[in-house]
Amino acid sequence: MSGRIVTREPGDSVFFRDGRLFIIDQTALPAAITILELHTPEDVAGAIRRLAVRGAMAIGVAGAYGVLLGALQAAGGDVEEIRRAAAGAVSIISASRPTAVNLFWACERMENALEEGAEDSPDILTRRLGQRADEIALHTIESNRKLVEAGQEVVGDGAGVLTHCNSGPLAAIRHGTAVGVLIEAHRRGKGIHVYVDETRPLLQGARLTAWELDREGVPYTLITDSTAAQVMRRGSVDLVITGADRIAANGDTANKIGTYGLAVLAGEHGIPFYIAAPGSTVDLECAHGSRIVIEERDADEVRTCAGRATAPPGSPVYNPAFDVTPAKYISGIITERGVLRRPYEESLRGSGE
Ligand code: MRU
Repeated sequence: MSGRIVTREPGDSVFFRDGRLFIIDQTALPAAITILELHTPEDVAGAIRRLAVRGAMAIGVAGAYGVLLGALQAAGGDVEEIRRAAAGAVSIISASRPTAVNLFWACERMENALEEGAEDSPDILTRRLGQRADEIALHTIESNRKLVEAGQEVVGDGAGVLTHCNSGPLAAIRHGTAVGVLIEAHRRGKGIHVYVDETRPLLQGARLTAWELDREGVPYTLITDSTAAQVMRRGSVDLVITGADRIAANGDTANKIGTYGLAVLAGEHGIPFYIAAPGSTVDLECAHGSRIVIEERDADEVRTCAGRATAPPGSPVYNPAFDVTPAKYISGIITERGVLRRPYEESLRGSGE
């Protein structure tokens, strides 16, 4: 894919500066902080597909700027050419990954910006697309800042907290959601300890969450996914918090594969299980979790680990990237509007955007 290293400074995981789109390459972590410049909608879709940019909110923001890149490629053309290029970018980018609703939320906002102002000049149209993408980025940052604050209500002093996959600043461009709540709890001196599931097959917990907690000085212990039950049984876990990729109107929640099992385990051990996600992750048009499209990824992600074969080549594999946790296992959904409780059909009303 296209993309070259332009700097090694840490910062937001997706940022647009001087007309150029940059991402932290999440596949290179924790070994290196590598910043890639993406030039075209195809670059953005490719980066989303191979998880160079990943996490529901980060792919939404990257997708929005990818649509802008499509429009900028048609610079010098008339309004219709720019519209066609941007609409083509929406199709390319929204075909990259199916589960996280934030990507579609962002693409829909960019499409709306295309349709407003039928009498535009090319400049006005391009400027409006740029403003809309910036609004999506700022809205993401602000909604996460608020939910990180709201989530403090569920994290007590000295809590042991288990989390899965990565829902920190990398996944949400700045503050993060579930891991953002934990980083903030640590900054407030709550003395928490985080159990980080490594999160097979692609190890987002080990490679990304452990890296983020490490940088922030949050005490943590990395565990294999199959150790979760054991740490719960020995009494080390007071609550579980994860992020989300799509929340249905009834509260059923899609998140990284393995989340459902954790929620059931937490229920069995009497441990509260929370989801942290902003309104842009709530899909009120999706009545029930069974309607959420679950991405299936390449079999080699399971047959290998860190690039080395761990199974016979050609082993039959089932590799869903996400699962759906039924609402009955979810003790609360931490949003920018506060901690929502069951029945979610009622508490989520007005949350979707
Ligand atoms: O396949 P990934 O790594 O994009 O999966 C991401 C998750 O499941 C995260 O928990 C989710 O997107 C939360 S984003 C703040």
